[in-house]
Amino acid sequence: MEDVLLRYGIIGVGMMGREHLYNLAAIPGALVVAVADPDPGSREQAVAVASALQLSRPAPPLQVFGDHGSLLDSGMCDIVVVATPNMTHAQILLDILNHPKAHHILVEKPLCTTVEDCYNVIEAAQARPEVLVQVGLEYRYIPAVAKLIEQVKINSVGRVRMVSIREHRFPFLVKVNNWNRFNKNSGGTLVEKCCHFFDLMTLIADSMPVRVMASGGQDINHLDESYHGEVPDILDNAYVVVDYENGVRGMLDLCMFAEGSRNEQEICVVGTRGKGEAFVPESIVRIGARDSGREGVLTYEVHDKRVKYEGLHHGSSFLEHLEFAAAIKSNGERPPTVGLEEGLMSVAVGVAAQQSIEFGRFVTLTEVIARKR
Ligand SMILES: NC(=O)c1ccc[n+]([C@@H]2O[C@H](COP(=O)([O-])OP(=O)(O)OC[C@H]3O[C@@H](n4cnc5c(N)ncnc54)[C@H](O)[C@@H]3O)[C@@H](O)[C@H]2O)c1
Repeated sequence: MEDVLLRYGIIGVGMMGREHLYNLAAIPGALVVAVADPDPGSREQAVAVASALQLSRPAPPLQVFGDHGSLLDSGMCDIVVVATPNMTHAQILLDILNHPKAHHILVEKPLCTTVEDCYNVIEAAQARPEVLVQVGLEYRYIPAVAKLIEQVKINSVGRVRMVSIREHRFPFLVKVNNWNRFNKNSGGTLVEKCCHFFDLMTLIADSMPVRVMASGGQDINHLDESYHGEVPDILDNAYVVVDYENGVRGMLDLCMFAEGSRNEQEICVVGTRGKGEAFVPESIVRIGARDSGREGVLTYEVHDKRVKYEGLHHGSSFLEHLEFAAAIKSNGERPPTVGLEEGLMSVAVGVAAQQSIEFGRFVTLTEVIARKR
């Protein structure tokens, strides 16, 4: 790829914004020129990270803004990365899309916390076709997950019938001003965290989700915390079943008090011919065929040589940036791999799952995506 210089601005430099700083420092042709964040502590940490980075090219000092409007008005950036709390994505995206200067956008997942907000953003983006938008559903780039998807696409397991994803991990981390402790800010656990998994499920099922049934609760985590007199209300475990138009069944098994796990994600795809599994972070993929049984199962240890920075997400943030930069440099020939429609659909399944728990019944996608398009 030609080493064209792309100038990045990062809006929101908390944990994930700083993770983008590290990743972009390892991308040829990328330069972070500005950041914006209202929190002095986050700004200070971003400046400290930026000055400690070993860049392959001389770079001017990072410009630091207290709000995203000033960063956009500066005209310094070609691309902005939105890494702010979930409930702020919609307004910030509308501000970027309505700004006179065109900025390409990489927005962290979830696209927005509600389906309505996703539609508002999609409408605004349709009016700015020169702006490319990629949604940060990066799990599809995790090398072991990408290998499993590739095996499914080349028909190693036959016609896919079942996709199950287990995430067993540690509780939600502490965030700036504790925004992630409440559904109204995050969209709820099944939107905030699990949009990643619904995106993967839909990608592997290669079909549209039709209806969702979920059972979940907040059994252990954050119950002893209180913020301005309010106790967090976020789910810490759930089972979610998703039915797809083509008959594929998806299932998510989420537990956020399962630190004692060898793997954080285990993805299993069963088709008419065989079965494929991916294990993260072990970075192992297993593929087996029904007619060769247990003895015939192949095990791959997966690495992607393109990854120059592993970071917090097994190299997926790095690969996501590589992909988006390639889309931008292709001058319209290559659209972003994860666009707004994928962003919307992953939020919609999460919303349907949250509602299913609340209502105690299946929720159809048409109920959730009720708005006329
Ligand atoms: N891809 C992933 O797997 C992944 C992992 C973690 C977080 N995320 C997403 O990244 C986003 C940020 O999460 P985080 O973990 O970094 O949270 P964080 O609380 O660590 O950081 C958020 C930062 O945004 C700042 N902020 C708030 N409002 C702002 C505004 N209007 N303009 C500019 N900055 C603003 C806050 O001051 C804070 O510094 C969220 O959407 C989250 O869901 C994605």
